Amino acid sequence: MFKEISTIFNDKFGSFPEATYFSPGRVNIIGEHTDYNGGQVLPFCINLGISGAVRFRADNIVNIYSVNFPKLDTISFNIDRLDYDVSLEFANYAAGMILELGKRGFLINQGFNLVVASDLPVGGGLSSSAAFLVLVGKILIDKFSLPIDNIELAKIARAVENNHIGVMCGIMDQFVIANGVAGSAMRLHTDTLAYEFIPIKSEDFIFVLVNSNTTRKLTESKYNERQAETRQLLGILQKHVPIDNICDLSPADYRSYERYVSDLTLKRRFLHLVNENHRVGSASFAIMENDISSLGGLLNESHESLRDLYQVSSPLLDRLVVLAREAGSLGSRMIGGGFGGSTLNVVAKKSLHRFINSFTELYRKEFNADPIINLIEIVDGVRKIND
Ligand code: GLA
Repeated sequence: MFKEISTIFNDKFGSFPEATYFSPGRVNIIGEHTDYNGGQVLPFCINLGISGAVRFRADNIVNIYSVNFPKLDTISFNIDRLDYDVSLEFANYAAGMILELGKRGFLINQGFNLVVASDLPVGGGLSSSAAFLVLVGKILIDKFSLPIDNIELAKIARAVENNHIGVMCGIMDQFVIANGVAGSAMRLHTDTLAYEFIPIKSEDFIFVLVNSNTTRKLTESKYNERQAETRQLLGILQKHVPIDNICDLSPADYRSYERYVSDLTLKRRFLHLVNENHRVGSASFAIMENDISSLGGLLNESHESLRDLYQVSSPLLDRLVVLAREAGSLGSRMIGGGFGGSTLNVVAKKSLHRFINSFTELYRKEFNADPIINLIEIVDGVRKIND
């Protein structure tokens, strides 16, 4: 892949790149929609992601070419004009990164040529936008020796999503992509940004991803709608209890405070958040104790809650979860923002082949096509591959 990307770079820009980077996608084991409510999450970086080859220029022009979107050809902008512009497509993320760095006093005064190639499945909901943002940020930090660590990088990348792209996401994706380590999940407390690594070294189970292959048209608007609902809910709760975040409350607190929430939809969101946040702790212990059936059970509960209480699943995701359970997964759920994307399945290693065969058969029968299954590896976060 890296040789290839250098050759493509040379074909496009007439010279070889000065550096190559890799920025991974992410999977979250549990703790969904908690990251913009001050709760916990349990993500890790996966071996699928975005490779980027770069060479800086002597002028102010940024040229970006994605191997995955050849029809868009090379997208160009001037670093003096960084406003959001629909015609810039995904390059808006790069413009936004330069803009947010500038706001913090880090002026980028040199353009660059960049070729990116992603092996993240389209519509897989594995955070390609965060991977791209962190990739561009890392390239700029390295080139200009900016005094920005990977925690700050994650904050800046999130600010680009919130301020420039208009997605009011939490910090989970950017944070794990910037700071993840191979072989471990990261238990991140999004209120304080404290985190610890939980090694996934079990010989007994494996995480299997199934891609629904549905692009997520609704995602951004529905996502922002959920964010607005939880902001409203927080406002209601704060009249009765001194909290900064909804996830400061436990499932037991829910019973004390739900009476103040008359709107049924907000009540549902509330119940999901307190339980889901609690499940992150339980899942962390289950992993540490190698209790895979409890881990599977927690994934199942999480899915039911995302489907019925937070209402971010889709009929297709629900079917994928049902089929995976029929095929013998120990637990299955949709992951990420929802309305499309992937499902995560905990499968006992000893029954992996049986799972894949019977899931494939069930899927073919229902959808008349082959499923997209990925056995993922847990890898390090963003990194430079070579100079
Ligand atoms: C998307 C967002 C994250 C997080 C998840 C849901 O991936 O980018 O910040 O909110 O959805 O857990």
